[in-house]
Amino acid sequence: MSGARKVYIKSFGCQMNVYDSHRMADTLAPEGFTETTAPDNADLVILNTCHIREKAADKLYSELGRIRVMKQTAADAGRQMTIAVAGCVAQAEGAEILRRSSAVDLVVGPQSYHRLPSLLARTARGEAVVDTEFPPEDKFDILKAPSRAATRARGVSAFVTVQEGCDKFCTFCVVPYTRGAEVSRPVTKIVAEVERLANAGVREVSLIGQNVNAYHGEGPDGRPWTLGRLLHRIADVPGIARLRYTTSHPCDVEDSLVDAHRDLPALMPLLHLPVQSGADRILAAMNRRHTRADFLAAIARRRNQQAAMAFSTDFIVGFPGETDADFQATLALVDEVKFVSAYTFKYSPRPGTPAAEMPDQIPETAKTERLHTLQSAIARHQKAFNAGCVGQSFDVLFEKAGRYPGQVVGRSPYLQPVQVMAPPSVIGSVCRVTFTELSTNSLFGKLTTETERTREPMAMAAGG
Ligand code: SAH
Ligand code: SF4
Ligand code: F3S
Repeated sequence: MSGARKVYIKSFGCQMNVYDSHRMADTLAPEGFTETTAPDNADLVILNTCHIREKAADKLYSELGRIRVMKQTAADAGRQMTIAVAGCVAQAEGAEILRRSSAVDLVVGPQSYHRLPSLLARTARGEAVVDTEFPPEDKFDILKAPSRAATRARGVSAFVTVQEGCDKFCTFCVVPYTRGAEVSRPVTKIVAEVERLANAGVREVSLIGQNVNAYHGEGPDGRPWTLGRLLHRIADVPGIARLRYTTSHPCDVEDSLVDAHRDLPALMPLLHLPVQSGADRILAAMNRRHTRADFLAAIARRRNQQAAMAFSTDFIVGFPGETDADFQATLALVDEVKFVSAYTFKYSPRPGTPAAEMPDQIPETAKTERLHTLQSAIARHQKAFNAGCVGQSFDVLFEKAGRYPGQVVGRSPYLQPVQVMAPPSVIGSVCRVTFTELSTNSLFGKLTTETERTREPMAMAAGG
């Protein structure tokens, strides 16, 4: 097998899609592939697709148009370029992708990435290959662990998949079909991965899953562990200063998880809790399995444990049958919870999902109008929250050098971007910063001390 080959991987989807892209790169590294950011001179191009909304799925075919030209140019120069389509569109459309685009050599679903080397061996023999099986083996057992070098290149904050798939079947959503049933990784595997990341300099870990609070992986004691218990265990890994988890469903909130917000200083006080709508009628039609009151109760339980909790969410506007009154209920919920940020989407009918067949589909113009109204309501709360942070001090995890000399950028506990004049030595540490000013996109601050704050109050170290 030839030594240096280049792979270009593009992610179109969620955090799990990005995580999968990294793992594909790690799996291909022993095969002699190094990652490149330039698709035109790559030997292998992987488009890691997303199927969640029509627009997301359309991106594949417009990208394939461009890639096809590159493949032809490479062929004219006597170079072979292999094109793979991975991710949730691959899972949903399978062989249809080969029919729509002759440039594609390989279609591979999210459960088959560990088989990439053998699949590529088949494409090298000129075969067009489709692998969208849900194989019985655990792909995480076979996928390569993140390498130290790769981790270093990716910085101080990392995602770790702990749970994949979804059994909830919200009527608008493709995820249960593209990712399959809920599967949790065993605790020891996750801890080993976090330890490797910590050794490579990672300070913040976000545990990810489509439905992360349904986590029930096997613990070292052979029993299923909850997410709360897993968080406690990971907080003990030396070097890990910050923990997050995403995305959680408003149901499935067990006590150990709520308690973790009180007991674990490393667990950041920002929770992403998608609600989709503020109207009970629409929540029921979406099969969300909770009411507006249940959602507010889930918020209150967290706030009772940690007063400084803030919440972000996802909304869908223009779900079939959504009336003006339903939409007003959504706006009222925004004002009640005061979300500090939100992803907002126009309902996009997905083939094969129940909502796509529902009567009273909402016209595009009404969806657009509601989207704008909702976005400005959320922006108002976000601005107020950010403005309220000025004058206060928070811990900031410094990530990288800023755009201007002497400037370093990091993130607050609430994921706000923070810019500070500080020596580059602070990168990778958590330091206290007093916020002095707010611009449109970030907070400016002054370093209180250059040394890392430990979580237990202790004698001030020299310097700073
Ligand atoms: N598991 C998470 C969400 C995963 S999908 C949860 O249960 O909340 C991320 C977001 O995409 C969803 O929260 C929803 O707001 C949006 N989304 C999913 N399907 C959609 C569709 N058909 N149209 C528009 N938005 C959609
Ligand atoms: Fe989709 Fe609902 Fe599952 Fe979230 S909980 S992934 S929205 S089906
Ligand atoms: Fe998209 Fe699949 Fe993630 S559909 S949002 S890439 S789980």
